[in-house]
Amino acid sequence: MPQDITKFSQDKILVSPSILAADFCELGRECDEVVKAGAEMLHLDVMDGKMVPNISFGVPVITSLRKKNDALFDVHLMIDRPLFYTPAFVKAGADHITFHVESSDDPLKTIECIHSHGCSAGMSLRPGTPAEALFPYLDQLEMVLVMTVEPGFGGQSFMADQLPKIAAFRKEIIKRGLKCHIEVDGGIGEKNVDLVVANGANVLVAGTSVFRHPSGMAAGVKVLHDAQDKFDSAL
Ligand code: DX5
Ligand code: ZN
Repeated sequence: MPQDITKFSQDKILVSPSILAADFCELGRECDEVVKAGAEMLHLDVMDGKMVPNISFGVPVITSLRKKNDALFDVHLMIDRPLFYTPAFVKAGADHITFHVESSDDPLKTIECIHSHGCSAGMSLRPGTPAEALFPYLDQLEMVLVMTVEPGFGGQSFMADQLPKIAAFRKEIIKRGLKCHIEVDGGIGEKNVDLVVANGANVLVAGTSVFRHPSGMAAGVKVLHDAQDKFDSAL
């Protein structure tokens, strides 16, 4: 049975390290290390070379990781046909599946398919897509994912012009009284974590700043969890 992302409070800062920045020869061990360091989830970036100009990994890698790791698998599908591929990712071990509003499948059908397999559903949007594009689906989602880089590659610079979008989601979620996490993804680390949580994000994806932290992965995870105070005072 997939793990339920709603077991986590929307008032808690949650860390979801992106394995794209891991050493793939040491993938199993490095995933254990970030989970032991307190990361609540693992962020798994699936890219098809079509929706984004890069190819990462897919079902077999997730299947192998699942056998060795009990963390909540937060799968970010940057692929063109999320509806078609959802059952395969569920079978591989996904707990939560996020897809893009820019993909070609019908969003409501895709959400329904994800839910029917017992997973929670998320939607994401490119930096150029306005928050309002997801508003019609918010009531059905357990998480929205705000991209703070153009999707496709790890290690890019954080786009501060996306902060108002995070705030717009927080405002709408409060207004409707929804229990929906707000996740942020791309270039997140020490320099901007306070800003993203102050604007209302509570789930923090980070690849480079966790897996490549100069003082080790535990230090990278701690920097993100330490933003809890800033989040609390912004609420
Ligand atoms: C980008 C991915 C991100 C990315 C995060 O398309 O969705 O998850 O790998 O990596 P960093 O934290 O290095 O920007
Ligand atoms: Zn991602």
